[in-house]
Amino acid sequence: MRQPTVARQLPDLHPRRALAVGAVLVLAAAPVALAPAPSPAESPSPTAAAPASGDRGTQLYREHCASCHGEQGQGTQRGPSLVGVGPASVDFQLSTGRMPVSQEVQQSRRQEPVFSADDIAALVDHVTSFGGGGPQIPRVAPGNLASGREIFAANCAPCHGATGAGAALTNGWTAPPLYDTSAVQVAEAVRVGPGLMPVFPSQVLDDRQVDDLAAYVQRLRSERLDPGGDPLGRLGPLAEGLVAWVAALGLLVAAARWLGRRAGE
Ligand code: HEC
Ligand code: HEC
Repeated sequence: MRQPTVARQLPDLHPRRALAVGAVLVLAAAPVALAPAPSPAESPSPTAAAPASGDRGTQLYREHCASCHGEQGQGTQRGPSLVGVGPASVDFQLSTGRMPVSQEVQQSRRQEPVFSADDIAALVDHVTSFGGGGPQIPRVAPGNLASGREIFAANCAPCHGATGAGAALTNGWTAPPLYDTSAVQVAEAVRVGPGLMPVFPSQVLDDRQVDDLAAYVQRLRSERLDPGGDPLGRLGPLAEGLVAWVAALGLLVAAARWLGRRAGE
């Protein structure tokens, strides 16, 4: 019944036929892929590989970003300027799968990243070539959980919730849950301040404190998944009132302290 072109049809194909078509495509693409490879005479030093990745970044950017952010990153009505946003912002947006968005949205959501790590690096380089400074991709070292918990409670919990489960903010914005985020993404978010999130510059939180925070945020996920760590689940009916609730809260804090001390050992 259906006889469309190979490219359109690909996602609907029976797996075995898809494999066959894939093999044909790979064969067809092979000479093209081989053709531009520089001969040894043309690449006298190892650094000659750099322009190739630059070209990859240019190509990906033109294909996936320029329509909204402009050919030179100057911005359009569909997307903000990327001049000077810095490597950390681009890496954060791409590694969390927020970019590229397919249509204009107020807040792009975390999803599976569209690009490989290499392609993300190429795009980061390309956007950085538009100029301006902006925060570098942070290096995260192992941190202190107890200190991280305090910094989180004071600076992050008001929006992301005490357990990192996320919460609704104003005007349809949400502070997302923090259970899938990597240590580097935590540090990037802190330095970049994506969307409605404030920037925390190094005068406010130094690199050590960001390491502590990243360690603690990684811990939030396992605390949530720990079935013994949820005393609220065993709470009686609401009629038992405030007393039971306060007692449960005390338990929760005690459990958190205990977990923290164990983790600190
Ligand atoms: C459909 C339009 C669209 C496309 C395509 C798109 N973006 Fe965006 N981008 C936006 C909008 C709108 C925002 C601001 C809202 C937001 O942050 O969700 C944004 C925000 C960003 C930011 C954050 C800017 C800042 O000020 O911190 C970065 C970085 C970014 N995009 C990079 C990219 C890259 C790289 C690509 C290509 C892989 C891309 N975008 C593709 C529309 C787009
Ligand atoms: C004023 C509210 C607010 C505060 C305070 C805040 N954030 Fe956020 N945070 C947000 C919002 C909103 C987003 C989503 C931004 C977007 O999607 O563009 C976000 C996103 C993030 C993300 C990305 C999560 C993911 O999975 O993609 C991380 C990590 C993060 N915040 C960590 C922190 C940390 C750590 C602190 C404390 C130092 C903090 N935030 C303080 C509002 C806040």
